[in-house]
Amino acid sequence: MLSKSVQERLNDQIQKETFASRAYLAMATWAEGESLPNIAEFFYNSAEEERQHMLQIFRYINAHGGAAKLDDKGGKIKGSFKNVLDAFRQVLELEQNVSASINEIASWCQQNGEHATYFFLQPFILEQQAAERNIGEILTVIERMGFEPRNLFYLDKQFKKINQQESGE
Ligand SMILES: [Fe+2]
Repeated sequence: MLSKSVQERLNDQIQKETFASRAYLAMATWAEGESLPNIAEFFYNSAEEERQHMLQIFRYINAHGGAAKLDDKGGKIKGSFKNVLDAFRQVLELEQNVSASINEIASWCQQNGEHATYFFLQPFILEQQAAERNIGEILTVIERMGFEPRNLFYLDKQFKKINQQESGE
């Protein structure tokens, strides 16, 4: 059975994953409004991934004698961005925050003898590392291709490839 403090920490993480999922959906709406369908698709896929993370933690808590909860303390979602670069800078910040909190829980588990949950968190830690690297690469693509209106058609097309790579992984 999960200790109360592990449960609390994991429930906090559920809110962060949910926040990330909602933030990505708001970005999808923004990208659709800017007529960037492939970038929107990237955001829809990311929203779904975050929801899956949330569900994995949710099920883990309930499967081990705890009570998983969703609350509405996720924070304010941003729905408008200056441009594509600005949007992806926000994405990096979002992912960095999620990484920081996962790492914090893992460190706590390690120090407090919560071995099972520590191991449960390993795939999340590696996935965050990969996500940050991926967003870093996307930021490089955006900077190199340009994100002025005249570049947007090709930049959006580039996301077709990025989305395919993502789903192939
Ligand atoms: Fe996540």
